[in-house]
Amino acid sequence: MAVTINTLREFKQKGEAFAALTSYDATFSQVVSEAGVHVILIGDSLGMVLQGHDSTLPVTMDQMVYHVSCVAKGNRGSLIMADMPFMSYGTVESALENAAELMRAGAHMVKLEGTDWMKETITALTERAVPVCAHLGLTPQFVNKFGGYKVQGRDEKAAEMMIEHACELEAAGADVILLECVPAPLAARIAQAVKAPVIGIGAGPDTDGQILVLHDMLGITTGRKPRFVKNFLAETDSVQEALKAYVKAVGERTFPAEEHTFKA
Ligand code: KIV
Repeated sequence: MAVTINTLREFKQKGEAFAALTSYDATFSQVVSEAGVHVILIGDSLGMVLQGHDSTLPVTMDQMVYHVSCVAKGNRGSLIMADMPFMSYGTVESALENAAELMRAGAHMVKLEGTDWMKETITALTERAVPVCAHLGLTPQFVNKFGGYKVQGRDEKAAEMMIEHACELEAAGADVILLECVPAPLAARIAQAVKAPVIGIGAGPDTDGQILVLHDMLGITTGRKPRFVKNFLAETDSVQEALKAYVKAVGERTFPAEEHTFKA
């Protein structure tokens, strides 16, 4: 049966964890979907993973639409979430227009990076039938404001602020919250504070779902390996088995383990 936003809500209500992965093409999407991954994200990480840029900023709407349509063709029942690329939601009007393009290409939900300034945009999108995931914490489109890719929410003031933002974005209509690179205790507090399913990456074991970049969990990313990444292909010689092992580990909450987690 196809995964919908209701499926993710049911996971949260039952205290069970769901698995998400990025994917950018039809073949991988079919394999990922058939392995039981609940959510496929067409991340703007494709700017780094596929295109070789050193940030996600150069990714365009046309490129996102192209990759969403590829993923939609391969998908076998996962929920398809599409990133809105840098500055494609700078105004409410541009967000509506660009989100509609991603939904027409096959997305079931769009993801936006930012904090309380996105409230009006999220309300406008969700009132017009576009489900939204709000991405908080280390939001890679803000790399030049953050001065690098750094763990966010480390001090109490920043942590309180992130909890407040998550609650405000949920109240504005966000259907899902995604937390990237935040200390595990903070992620746990946010997952408790909101009713919406919370997906984590580098956010510890207590979020409602987990996500990784596909190339990272297959151990084929070049360069520095982030702490939160586990290579699931290291223990098998089959991509399909590695994907199933990831879904199982997330479901059993054996991934992420201590060594993948930021404590503070
Ligand atoms: O672009 C992306 O792949 C993402 C994930 C890292 C969550 O936003």
